[in-house]
Amino acid sequence: MTVRSIDGTPVTIRLAMKMEDALQAFAVRAACFIGELDVPFSEEFDGHDHGATHVIAYLGDEPVGAVRLRWFRSFAMTERLAVLQRFRGLRIGQQLLEHCGTLAESRGCGLLYAQVLPCDIGYWEKQGWCRLVPEAQSKADPDQIVAVIKAADPGKPLPDVEPPEVINLRREPQRDATRNPLVACTK
Ligand SMILES: CC(C)(COP(=O)(O)OP(=O)(O)OC[C@H]1O[C@@H](n2cnc3c(N)ncnc32)[C@H](O)[C@@H]1OP(=O)(O)O)[C@@H](O)C(=O)NCCC(=O)NCCS
Repeated sequence: MTVRSIDGTPVTIRLAMKMEDALQAFAVRAACFIGELDVPFSEEFDGHDHGATHVIAYLGDEPVGAVRLRWFRSFAMTERLAVLQRFRGLRIGQQLLEHCGTLAESRGCGLLYAQVLPCDIGYWEKQGWCRLVPEAQSKADPDQIVAVIKAADPGKPLPDVEPPEVINLRREPQRDATRNPLVACTK
């Protein structure tokens, strides 16, 4: 789907349909999170990458942004939002998130959910997301992850579901080793 263009080059947002597409999403994430933000490889990539929906932004044929969507019972979780540094400030991140909303809505899922660092909250609030727990009630810890939500269709009210304040983000091997069931949908 072509959304708009930058200097005459079309920006398109597409879902990864084959391994090569997923590799393009991974390349963008590796550049942003591992290269730029010093996130260890072992934290950036996990078993959820196999089951997630990868949404990719292209400028022309070049992948420039990506976000991953994971599907839960009553909401879809956006993770790993990244835009290559030299393409920032062009609303590519915004378009990726909007596409997540459209996709979720089209699949009958009315709520988007994300966990973000306090330093990034401003970005998400600008995109119309709101804190699950009001700021006054949350701990003043700069490393404390903050859950944020948004109606998949911004024209509709937030659906009446109770997403968790914290999702246990254990990695696949750990879950497998303990034989514990997925706890992500519990509060
Ligand atoms: C966060 C990110 C995806 C935004 O992508 P983008 O395409 O540049 O975003 P947009 O163009 O849609 O929005 C840019 C606006 O958000 C603002 N913004 C960017 N990061 C921000 C932050 N952490 N806090 C507050 N505002 C922020 C920009 O200043 C800009 O503001 P303006 O509209 O007043 O000029 C990109 O900065 C990025 O990849 N960062 C590194 C990866 C990362 O930290 N991801 C975690 C998700 S927040």
